This record gives sequence, C-alpha cells and structure tokens, in this order.
Amino acid sequence: MKGEEKMVDLSTQYLGMKLKNPIIAGSSGLTDSVKGIEELEKSGAAAVVLKSIFEEEIALEYDDVLKEASKGGLNMDQFDYYDFHIKGEKLARYTALISESKKAVSIPVMASINCVYSHEWTSFAKQLQTAGADALELNMFFLPSDFERTSEEKEKAYFQIIEKIQKDVTIPVALKISYYFSNLGPMIQKLSETGIAGLVLFNRFYSPDFDIDKMEVVPSNIFSSPSDLSISLRWVAIMAERVNCDLAASTGVHDGKALIKQLLAGANAVQVASTLYLNGKNRIAEMLQTLEEWMAEKGYGSLADFRGKMSQAKSLSPSAYERVQFMKYFGGIS
Ligand SMILES: Cc1cc2nc3c(=O)[nH]c(=O)nc-3n(C[C@H](O)[C@H](O)[C@H](O)COP(=O)(O)O)c2cc1C
Repeated sequence: MKGEEKMVDLSTQYLGMKLKNPIIAGSSGLTDSVKGIEELEKSGAAAVVLKSIFEEEIALEYDDVLKEASKGGLNMDQFDYYDFHIKGEKLARYTALISESKKAVSIPVMASINCVYSHEWTSFAKQLQTAGADALELNMFFLPSDFERTSEEKEKAYFQIIEKIQKDVTIPVALKISYYFSNLGPMIQKLSETGIAGLVLFNRFYSPDFDIDKMEVVPSNIFSSPSDLSISLRWVAIMAERVNCDLAASTGVHDGKALIKQLLAGANAVQVASTLYLNGKNRIAEMLQTLEEWMAEKGYGSLADFRGKMSQAKSLSPSAYERVQFMKYFGGIS
C-alpha cells in the first residue's frame, strides 16, 4: 500500500526447521564456544553448525594411548578403560558445548561430525542427539588420493554411513560433501534419495602450499574468496529441482548479493564462515539488509517468491550452466 512500508518475510525451511532467515553460521572455529555462538545469534545468524568433532582425531589419540599402554603390557581391562576414558573426554566436551549452547541461544544448534571410518559413527551420533542437537551434519570426505580403493568402494562408504546413522538418530541429518566425485550430478541425486534431510554443497578444505625458503609444507588460503562462489552456485542451480532433500550452499558466500544468487539458484539456506572471519560477524546483518532491500525493490514478499527462479530447470538457456570452456568470452586472448 502507498506510504506503508511492506515488510518482507525472510524465513525459510531447512531440515524440517523454520529458520528466521537463510543465513547459517557454518562449522568453523567461530562455532566452537558458547560465547561465539551467542555472538552469532546476536549478529542475526538463523542457526549454527558447531565446529566438527573429528572422528579421526579421537581415533588417533586413542591409537597413541593404546601404543603407550601396550609398552607396559596391555590387557583387556586397560583397553576398556582407555576406550571409555578418551572417547568420554572428547565427547563430554562436545556434548557439553551442545547442551550449554542450547540453553544460551534460541536458534537451532546443529552438531557436526567429521567422519572417516564408518565403524565409530553411530555411537557418537546418538550422544549428540541426546545432548540436544537439533540436527546433525555429517562432514564426509575421502581425498581421492587413496590408490588402494576404487571410486565405487569410496562412494559405497557414503551410503553405508548414511544407512547406519539413520538407524540410530531421529533428528534430521544433513550431509556436507565435496565436489570430488567422478559423476557428481547423479551422485548428489542418489545421496538425496537416501532419506537424508539436506545436502550442503560444498565443503572447502585445507590445502597445502610450499614455503620454498624453509622447504616446508604450509597451509594456503584458509579462507575462501568471493570468486569461490561459482562452483557451488553452478551445482546448486543444476541440482535444485533434481534432489529429494533441502540444499544449503556453502563456499564463497561473502555478501548479500552472493546470498541472493544462491537463493535464486534454489538453495534453502546458505552457510557462511570465511566472510565472518574476514569482515566480522556484523556482515550477517549487512547481508540480510541487502536481501531485504533487493526483495522490496523486486516486489517479493517471501523467499518462496523467487527461490529457484534461476535454477537450471527453470532456465530458458539451461546450457549456460554447463558451459565449461572459455572460447566465447576470451576468444581474443591467446
Ligand atoms: C577456520 C575454519 C575452520 C573450519 N572448520 C570446519 C569444520 O570443523 N567442519 C566443517 O565441516 N567445515 C569446516 N570449515 C569449512 C566451513 O564450514 C565452510 O564449509 C567453508 O569454509 C566454505 O565456506 P566459506 O566460503 O563461507 O568459508 C572450516 C572453515 C574455516 C575457515
């Protein structure tokens, strides 16, 4: 109505939960303390994914203690003791983070497990649910540098883990994956049909660089840059109408425009990490403001009015999403 400011509704559905807006603080060091999570809620985040609990880390620590113990002659009593003690300590810290965060904030708190082997998972997952996690994100990735296992074997592991975990927890499960699959589109589709509630496209990983003076391997580019958006944007747009679960976009969402693009591609929500480290937590409010203003300008009252409008399925030129060569744009550059 003339003269009246029309409020836009930023709420979205993700993993069966109603989020007040589409910005989730992704799993990172910013979500590994109650204080950090409280700050994120104050800054406008609609939900948080806790820093992952690393199954591998627990397993390694466990191995070290077992090695130590075996020097003194290991017996089964000790085994049980260490088993209980080590896992108990790491898990107790993590479950305390869940239950304390749940008391401190009103936004959904999702737990995250970094899964490496399938055998340890289920016991972790149940405890995270009991501690009060609203959902569980499985951060799963096998670097394709293992020359012993075929791609079929590696892919099978994903389905085995999902099957196992679904027997043990009743909270929604999301799967956060990489784009390192030989047949990415069909793989994402197959994963979405396993009964999981959501897929996070994509995780970004620690990558090595070389220090040529010290001759050492060092971390490179811990944070993403805005140009890293393109891979997840393409795949959210391609998969949006082809999956049987929600989609959250992750990697390279640094500002409000990138958020709008991912919603247009068909994402239910976005996850942000690097931009919060680089630009501060207030970036969330700025992004929401950009979204709100853009929606008002376009006359959209809710996210449903435009979500997926630029997905490949709705596009008049679907081949644009699959173009991979530069010939047209850089024809003059040799
Ligand atoms: C410092 C840091 C720590 C992270 N730790 C985790 C983690 O424990 N588990 C996980 O699934 N992702 C982790 N991530 C990945 C982020 O959740 C996110 O998927 C990735 O950084 C891409 O999003 P961005 O471009 O917004 O940073 C981490 C990222 C950063 C920068």
